[in-house]
Amino acid sequence: MALVNSKKMFEQAYKNGYAIGAFNVNNMEIVQGITEACKEVNAPVILQVSKGARAYANHTYLVKLVEAAVAECPEIPIVLHLDHGPDFETCKSCIDGGFTSVMIDGSHLPFEENIELTKKVVEYAHARGVTVEGELGTLAGIEDDVKVEHGAESYTKPEEVIEFVTRTGVDSLAIAIGTSHGAYKFKPEQCTRNEEGILVPPALRFDILEAVSEKLPGFPIVLHGSSSVPQDYVKMVNENGGKMPDAIGVPEEQLRKAAALSVCKINIDSDLRLAMTGTIRKFFNEKPDKFDPREYLKPARANIKEIVKHKLINVLGCAGKADECK
Ligand code: G3H
Ligand code: 13P
Ligand code: ZN
Repeated sequence: MALVNSKKMFEQAYKNGYAIGAFNVNNMEIVQGITEACKEVNAPVILQVSKGARAYANHTYLVKLVEAAVAECPEIPIVLHLDHGPDFETCKSCIDGGFTSVMIDGSHLPFEENIELTKKVVEYAHARGVTVEGELGTLAGIEDDVKVEHGAESYTKPEEVIEFVTRTGVDSLAIAIGTSHGAYKFKPEQCTRNEEGILVPPALRFDILEAVSEKLPGFPIVLHGSSSVPQDYVKMVNENGGKMPDAIGVPEEQLRKAAALSVCKINIDSDLRLAMTGTIRKFFNEKPDKFDPREYLKPARANIKEIVKHKLINVLGCAGKADECK
């Protein structure tokens, strides 16, 4: 099947208590690892491209890689989504250039300006069958060139969501409930430590998620910054020359709980980066004589596939749901 927008996926995900995985793609091995996992467990998927990914790999290469995945996996629905669209022009360029979904991230703007910008993107996108994600509230962490320090983030205000969704016409809404971008989601002082000295993060603000959902019944919510930062990969990085002390993510049980509620799209990038980097670091450490990129990219791609499969089955709950999302 051809690329689809996110409409049917979110309807099914909301109704049946699961979330669609939205994984960031930057090169061929990442696209292959993700889509081979989805094909194997029959899961729908959102492949998302950031401004940084377009700058790195080039729009056309990324679209063609995703089109290749569509040809290789005709049995699963695939969305090609712009992640954190920074302005109208970038959204327009992606819509004109084959994307089936875009995010316009006006979360750093004053409320009225966020509405105005988001509405403009929605009008352009909807006329072309493309779905749109907006955002209210800001997450800590780094996304492209915007860095929000811990402490400067702001939770979504439930009292704003009806007006935002009604006036903009967005198809889904990203909210801030305590997740953040990157591999250091919580400062050590926000956490406790278990017996092994590993940081235990504070709980997400499910009270805000519930308040938002009460105001927007049936409406798909999106969670950014949802990597769990698996400690076995952090260890693999650190034991093979890396330095990622106190890297910490969102516990998977909390994401599973969110997916069973109104959260229909869960964004994961850092975990795939960790799987790839940990695997390549280990490979080079153990086999310093090797220099053929295929030899180290092959296990990296295999481990991306494994971690994505784990997410689809055990965290998102969308394994086996490809057919109902078509
Ligand atoms: O939200 C951020 C995503 O992880 C994309 O990261 O902007 O470095 O491609 P990037
Ligand atoms: P992570 O950094 O937690 O993987 O979040 C990715 C994301 O939100 C992409 O938009
Ligand atoms: Zn994000």
